[in-house]
Amino acid sequence: MPRPGDCVTQRPIAVFDSGVGGLSVVRELRRALPAEPIVYFGDTARVPYGTKSPRIVAQFAREAAEFLLTFDPKLIVAACNTVSAVAMDALSAVTDVPVIGMVEPGARGATVAAGDGAIGVIGTEATIASGAYVRAIHHINPGQRIESTACPLFVPLAEEGRLSDDPIVALTAQTYLTPLGELSPKAVILGCTHYPLLREAIAAVLGPNVAIIDSGQEAAHAVAAMLADRGWLSAAGAPASMRVFVSDNPTRFRAVGSRFLGQNLESVELVDLEPHAVPSRIAPSVR
Ligand code: DGL
Repeated sequence: MPRPGDCVTQRPIAVFDSGVGGLSVVRELRRALPAEPIVYFGDTARVPYGTKSPRIVAQFAREAAEFLLTFDPKLIVAACNTVSAVAMDALSAVTDVPVIGMVEPGARGATVAAGDGAIGVIGTEATIASGAYVRAIHHINPGQRIESTACPLFVPLAEEGRLSDDPIVALTAQTYLTPLGELSPKAVILGCTHYPLLREAIAAVLGPNVAIIDSGQEAAHAVAAMLADRGWLSAAGAPASMRVFVSDNPTRFRAVGSRFLGQNLESVELVDLEPHAVPSRIAPSVR
């Protein structure tokens, strides 16, 4: 928790995910909060999280948070629905720095967009099995009809840089989403931060009458509101810095991430999280 007298406003926002997906949240944070410095960690050595057990996801989330806490962030964004669904308690056990997840903001956005209509939720196997979205949506509107579908292949496709223009992605989207589309949801939550990388392919199957809710975009608004509320916003100025760390294969991360962000990720640094990594152990930047 920021200490009295600290210049909280200048401290970075820490963001993490299993891999490249959390960059979809970074993109939204950059849009909403261009003056905020960001430190990002993608756990590319251990992606995907969505096929792992809650115990292992919680362990990975704790390790990511412990690494990011070395940057003294003012806020941690769990830019991973899987972590948000099964490991929020594990995160608050390691820090009193506020942690914002994806599930509640995503659920809120969807209930607004769907009104009385049905909500579709797509996510990893772990997120869907956890029932976290169903609980969060029913907390807001107990009567809401919800249809949930796990789409496990979307994550490895996005990690491999196969995005919406790839025919394999189109075919996968059709296979997973045609049954969901036939239930005529009013809104569908992209309940995995990798899915915005495939948004056009997903939207093409669901059609123009379905509102697509990006959980990361909703979470970025929640971050902006929290920082404004607490008086923790960075002073506006030049676009803020961004440091990016991964636990494996920075070259591939940089290529896919730059393509997705539409801007060159100038440097992606490799970090070994075990045990108790600190930035001084990080290998030289890959350019
Ligand atoms: N992007 C993450 C999520 O939102 C993790 C996906 C994965 O690693 O399986 O769930």
